[in-house]
Amino acid sequence: MKAGLKNGIRLNLAAALMLLSANALGQDAADSVAPEIATGISSRQAVSAKDFMVATANPYATKAGHDALAAGGNAIDAMVAVQLVLGLVEPQSSGIGGGAFLVYFDNDEGLLTTFDGRETAPMAATPTLFQNVNGEPLKFFDAVVGGRSVGTPGTLKLLYDTHAAHGKLEWATLVQPAIDLAEQGFELSERLFKQLSADVDRLGLHEETSAHFLKDDGTPHPQGHLLANPAYAQTLKSIAAQGADAFYKGPIAQKIVDTVKNGNPNNPGLLSHEDLANYRIKERPPVCLSYRGYDVCGMGPPSSGALTVGQILGILEPFDMAAQKPGNPATWQLIGDASRLAFADRGRYMADSDFVPMPTEGLLDQAYLDERAHLIEPRAVLTPDQVKPGSPAWDHVMLLADDESLELPSTSHFAIVDADGNVVSMTTTIENGFGSRLMTSGFLLNNELTDFSFRTHRDGIPIANRVEPGKRPRSSMAPTIIMKDGKPYMAIGSPGGSRIIGFVAQAIIAHIDWGMNVQAAINMPHLVNRFGTYDLEKGSEAEKLAAPLEALGYKVNIRDLNSGLHAIHITDDGLTGGADPRREGTVMGN
Ligand code: GLY
Repeated sequence: MKAGLKNGIRLNLAAALMLLSANALGQDAADSVAPEIATGISSRQAVSAKDFMVATANPYATKAGHDALAAGGNAIDAMVAVQLVLGLVEPQSSGIGGGAFLVYFDNDEGLLTTFDGRETAPMAATPTLFQNVNGEPLKFFDAVVGGRSVGTPGTLKLLYDTHAAHGKLEWATLVQPAIDLAEQGFELSERLFKQLSADVDRLGLHEETSAHFLKDDGTPHPQGHLLANPAYAQTLKSIAAQGADAFYKGPIAQKIVDTVKNGNPNNPGLLSHEDLANYRIKERPPVCLSYRGYDVCGMGPPSSGALTVGQILGILEPFDMAAQKPGNPATWQLIGDASRLAFADRGRYMADSDFVPMPTEGLLDQAYLDERAHLIEPRAVLTPDQVKPGSPAWDHVMLLADDESLELPSTSHFAIVDADGNVVSMTTTIENGFGSRLMTSGFLLNNELTDFSFRTHRDGIPIANRVEPGKRPRSSMAPTIIMKDGKPYMAIGSPGGSRIIGFVAQAIIAHIDWGMNVQAAINMPHLVNRFGTYDLEKGSEAEKLAAPLEALGYKVNIRDLNSGLHAIHITDDGLTGGADPRREGTVMGN
């Protein structure tokens, strides 16, 4: 125990931090890289508008959302239009074959709420779904490619049910732009082309997938190719006429079940008609943490997003982050070790709380987070032994082992604010790029079930995020709405697997503590630490921190960090939006 705590005196963490930055590293060394890193990886400028705004990962989708808002639609209407177009033009990331989380502020009701459209494990699934006959975990892609990894999709039901409750424009009107684009074709983007090129072997395994994305010679259609999707148009026509039932029952459901069972004979899945027909979205209260007078709110379990972003911010709350320069390695010791501590709790406690009791409130209790903050030592990066899950307050005694699940980056995030002040922050996914690689009726089926732990137990102790029938796999998606004085202040989120959490936390710190506007906060080079190794964004000023962070004791890995942060900042004077220069996103507003 530290002397300060032993005597019952709170260690002055801000003072400790100043000591760290000034002495341990040398002030000159600390400052020498400070100015550059804040300038970011691009000079992309924020977009301003007065009344409404939409920020998505693709220009076609942004336009569809903007058109819905310009036609008098609200944020939920625009969400429907955006998602159905994303499923066509960015099919590798999200679509009606996947799942999504929506954080929604309804201005009429003054209510912030969340909707869980996460995929569920089929009722026939067992905890050993991702193990071989010897009880060993399957290799990741052996599990992913084929029907085994496909969970019951939730995205369309989320769109349909929230539109029925909150939408303004006719459902069919909102489906039409995606139908038109699927029939006319869209220009295949550079990003999609590169991702297709990197995945031809897996995409080629399934006939319908290959027929859509690849030429007869097995190579992808080139960038700029006008890619139509008549099967998707046909599916959307049924959905426009009959609503979500057209998907969850009848011929489309039949094709989904057939594809899961037979699409890849080496890896069949378990999804049934009953799983589809019984799928329900769940409205859940938002999970919020207070950070410097802002309420940072997002999606609770089965997502670990809001809890882990909240824990990182809560651990940093006692530190004077505003006084720290973003180019100072000491700043990143704080953020990195806060993040590692939060990820330790995530691995132990976070899963679908409808199946596994969770200390949700205890994990965000500020007294608990202050205790965790006290573990961070000036001058000494936490050793792996020191990064253990904590003991949050809990009315439930339960022994759990640490999770292991591999989440690779895919997914998409968009933000919408309408003229009536309603706000949508939605992160949407089919999990891995191109999901299970199985396509049916013009859309790709997810591989979300591989977000479960492949192991069920460790040393005889159960893992919270193990597979169970009807359970939703733990997610890292962190669609966020920041509230200030009871009003929405910012909508933000990102794709990126479990690095989503670091991307979102960093952007919030960059905005709140370092005063960057949303675009500058998004542009900022990424530094992400989850499990000890510091990931630094390749080709960015963050690389300059490699040597100082290694000197502090971190292992460093320089790599691509392809976030897809999209955000809208709401002020009394209007809206400011940002789109991630690492992807193809745009912002439009009026
Ligand atoms: N599959 C990405 C996530 O849910 O975090």
